[in-house]
Amino acid sequence: MSTPEAPQPFPGGEHHPGESVRHTRAKGEPRFPDGPKADPAGSHFERRIRSFQPRRSRVTAGQADALQRLWAKWGLDIDGHAVDLAELFGDDRPVVLEIGFGMGEATAQMAAADPGTGILAVDVHTPGQGNLLNLADRTGLTNVRVANGDAIILLREMLPADSLDGLRVYFPDPWPKKRHHKRRLIQPEFLDLAATRLKPGATVHCATDWEPYAEQMLEVLTAHPHFENTRADGGFAPRPDFRPLTRFEGQGLDKGHVVNDLLFRRVQHRVRPGDR
Ligand SMILES: C[S@@+](CC[C@H](N)C(=O)[O-])C[C@H]1O[C@@H](n2cnc3c(N)ncnc32)[C@H](O)[C@@H]1O
Repeated sequence: MSTPEAPQPFPGGEHHPGESVRHTRAKGEPRFPDGPKADPAGSHFERRIRSFQPRRSRVTAGQADALQRLWAKWGLDIDGHAVDLAELFGDDRPVVLEIGFGMGEATAQMAAADPGTGILAVDVHTPGQGNLLNLADRTGLTNVRVANGDAIILLREMLPADSLDGLRVYFPDPWPKKRHHKRRLIQPEFLDLAATRLKPGATVHCATDWEPYAEQMLEVLTAHPHFENTRADGGFAPRPDFRPLTRFEGQGLDKGHVVNDLLFRRVQHRVRPGDR
């Protein structure tokens, strides 16, 4: 019997590098007793089409240690319960949501450069969660919280309306095959949801090295009535100084890919030519 081919979010199907140590445990033993839950949302909030590919992931000993030690302090399981951001961060600082932080190096750099802003960083990737917790701990960051699970459930079920000061989506899985385009995160329905959770004036910052996806992002963001391009020419933005190069961006640049940033603003309701 042949095994069906798993859908690959990247051209060539590459995965996160540097995942070398398999965490072994006895049958029935939870993977991280004090760390992130394996399936915090359970089947109740299951989505049919997901923007990520669930995969077995190996964690290093350092990542496992960070997940165990720091999850109770800085972790958030995406389990469908409402989140109070002031309680999560310990004050009412502005909070930006970063979806898909990967291994978290760029997230940690951005948090260090802007300590007055809270970064709620969400990914399904366990080694990355451990890595980001480790980076935050080692560099003394107190403004990063790490969420474990699907960002859609976090947005839809857990975050209050008008609660976020910004949204960052850096190098989301490009899902290059046409039949997988429906898995791409940046779609009109996603923007409908994000718009309700963002404060008016909040910035949406996306970047991708996959040009057809960049074009799609520009098209759907431009067409959406609750977002306006910060660029007067209506096009892509140069990479702002505050965004460091990310791991996936580096891999894309090595292959000669062109990187595009998009910087949009949440508006109450944009009146477009032709609208009544
Ligand atoms: C291509 S990687 C980019 C990682 C990082 N931003 C970078 O540039 O190096 C995309 C990441 O998004 C995560 N991801 C995709 N869909 C997600 C979702 N719905 N919720 C949370 N994380 C998601 C994946 O697990 C993966 O780590």
